[in-house]
Amino acid sequence: MEKQTATAHACANIALIKYWGKRDEALFLPTKSSLSISLKQLQTTTTITRSPMAHDEILLDGNPAPDAFTHAIRDFLTYFRAAYRIRNYFIIKTHNSFPTSAGLASSASGFAALVKALDKLYTLRISPKELSICARQGSGSACRSIERGFVLWNKGDAPDGSDSYAEQLFAHDHWPELCVLAVVIHKRAKKTSSRVGMQQTVLTSPLYQQWLTDSQERLEPIIQAIKQKDILTVGSLAEADALQMHTCMRAGTPSLNYWAPQTKTLVHLIQQLRTSGIPAYVTIDAGPNLKILTLKKHKLFIFRHLLSQDRTLKIIPCTI
Ligand code: PMV
Repeated sequence: MEKQTATAHACANIALIKYWGKRDEALFLPTKSSLSISLKQLQTTTTITRSPMAHDEILLDGNPAPDAFTHAIRDFLTYFRAAYRIRNYFIIKTHNSFPTSAGLASSASGFAALVKALDKLYTLRISPKELSICARQGSGSACRSIERGFVLWNKGDAPDGSDSYAEQLFAHDHWPELCVLAVVIHKRAKKTSSRVGMQQTVLTSPLYQQWLTDSQERLEPIIQAIKQKDILTVGSLAEADALQMHTCMRAGTPSLNYWAPQTKTLVHLIQQLRTSGIPAYVTIDAGPNLKILTLKKHKLFIFRHLLSQDRTLKIIPCTI
């Protein structure tokens, strides 16, 4: 008998070398390669059930999903049904262990979990490479959430996107001391989606080409530093990449600023910690929240230090 329902999990990922900009909007092909780590504690669980109805129903944490989320999933399912010659509609129940659309990469784990659940439901046995290509077409960064650990999304050159997929470089347990503190300032969904934000930056920011060049050049050194478990190099390259990306967004028209006033305060706080010898570095995506890269032995100190500045912060300690 055919399976009626399937469940899959995927972890969010945080890019140390970012993806910001597409060379092909329809196929989600990036302008450059990017590199990420998985965050074990930020997980999406998705259950997908064949539906007797003629439309897809999407529930997020038990409630009907917001419109933008529903549209993105429906568009993706239209692509998936055509690619794998599937006729069914679905009831999709998805749950995040963290705030959705708040710069904590919920779309990445969301689409990766969905693709894995579809693969299970139809026993398609899609290879990790194909799963990554498939997830990419839900949200670019989702292609980096199929595998855990340290993952490289090679931008690829083929016009059809067949060589633009993510691969694991090092397993999740390669560097057990490395950890991330995800600092949630706001849970609100962002005003400008990453899709629109990227387009604006690519089309209008005079600083974009420089970021592309610099960011691409950070890849090889950061891979070597990850191999050697060198937090100083990994942290400074990741922080430089993120801060340059945000400067680049702000230089576009209209100027794009995902930060809250507190984001800036916390960036300074972390940079100050470094002057007292604590290896802590920030990275920030399309939202006000921060992720702090550090080593496990410094985690508690940084955690307490942040809370002593602001008791309202929600801090989620994460491992790879
Ligand atoms: O995959 P998207 O469309 O959500 O874009 C993600 C972009 C960043 O999170 C800002 C950077 C990245 O590489 O994940």
